Amino acid sequence: MPKLIINGQNKLSGEIAVKGAKNAALKIIPAALLSSEKITISNLPVIEDVAKSLELAGKLGARVEYKDGTAGIEIKKPLTSELDEKIAGKLRASIMFAGPLLARTGEAIFPAPGGCLLASGAKRPIDLFLEGFARMGAEIKPENNRYRLKASRLRGCDYFFSTVSVTGTESMMLAAVLAEGTTILKNCAMEPEIKALADYLNGQGAKIDGAGTPTVAIRGVKSIGAGNFRLIPDRIETGTFACLAAATRSAVTITDCDPLHIEILLAIFKKIGVRFEAGADWLKILPGGEIGPYHIKTHEYPGFPTDLQAPYTVLATQASGSSLIHETIYDRRLMYIDMLLLMGADIIMCDPHRVVVNGPARLYGKKLTSPDLRAGIAMIIAGLVAEGKTEIDNIYQIDRGYENIEERLRALGADIERSND
Ligand code: EPU
Repeated sequence: MPKLIINGQNKLSGEIAVKGAKNAALKIIPAALLSSEKITISNLPVIEDVAKSLELAGKLGARVEYKDGTAGIEIKKPLTSELDEKIAGKLRASIMFAGPLLARTGEAIFPAPGGCLLASGAKRPIDLFLEGFARMGAEIKPENNRYRLKASRLRGCDYFFSTVSVTGTESMMLAAVLAEGTTILKNCAMEPEIKALADYLNGQGAKIDGAGTPTVAIRGVKSIGAGNFRLIPDRIETGTFACLAAATRSAVTITDCDPLHIEILLAIFKKIGVRFEAGADWLKILPGGEIGPYHIKTHEYPGFPTDLQAPYTVLATQASGSSLIHETIYDRRLMYIDMLLLMGADIIMCDPHRVVVNGPARLYGKKLTSPDLRAGIAMIIAGLVAEGKTEIDNIYQIDRGYENIEERLRALGADIERSND
């Protein structure tokens, strides 16, 4: 099993470029199935989840060409309606294909989607998707471990999300693009990737208003055309590298990013004394004195992203004082705390959603496992902060979302190697 081996405490310096946004790519690839004309997507990160999403599109009948972070997707023959069970079962965002398949083929058959196990239950819930598609006229039949959705023509509807959901909002947007009539979605998620998806679809002739606000209106059109799209920078990578630089007290310039997408983190950095400078597409973290504690509570955008909770918690171990970390979105996203405890962190688990981190703590290198993508990158940050050698296994989870992470961190001076032993 491949592992990452880190010898901690190197001071890092230099530049690291942010890749295209994973969570934009995983929506724009399925969205390409809405058009019969060629779609070109560039700035794709070279990661497992993107490879899987492109593979799923290919298995559905799309012609997919992929080279150096640019994919061309074209539908030259009728699509099949059934998602490959093995791939879809591993990728939560596989659910994003359901709307385009329903719209284009009248049917979508898919297994319960996979991904990180972040919420209780064997899989993360998809009730909002099923309810939304049903409101647009789809008939839903659960069959052994999979769902069969049918709709000869989707109809626009008014739908209020009882829980704010990122992929829920995006799925309904995709289903509504070619539906009959207008769809009004309320209590929508407002993440930058949602606006990016709408900009991309509108560029092809869709009629979407309000994406990035709580109410999104989609006027159905008969067809949409060709398109070229460059992915927005990954804001979670940006924030992760910022936490990494702050925790290791290093001078690191993060380029090809949009600091406005992590305004909440930068507002907190100002309060806790992490020094930085920022421009339109770069962010420089500067080494400084003592870091202060701060209470964070994860929230939908523009609040504190759940995907930055674990990297921030490692930073909190280096702050002087007590920080309360309150994870509100998922109830299994603090499972990695055991590993920080093993490394010497002083953390009190209050309940499945809240921990108190007392710092500053000396961390020591240990053998760790990466429980999920974001906790995995947090283990890397902890390994870089720690004295001695850290070994991280199950790094498939990290490769799902971070391109060639060890090489990019080595360029900053980190002592990190991949071992296949
Ligand atoms: N939820 C339901 N029912 C549903 C859908 C969601 O109850 O049908 C609940 C979830 O269990 C959760 C809450 O709603 O408690 C919000 O989840 P959301 O649907 O917004 O999450 P998601 O769309 O599945 C995306 C990102 C996640 C990120 C969350 C929150 C993608 C592919 N994934 O997930 O990213 O954590 O939004 O911002 O866009 C990651 O990149 O590591 C990752 C997990």
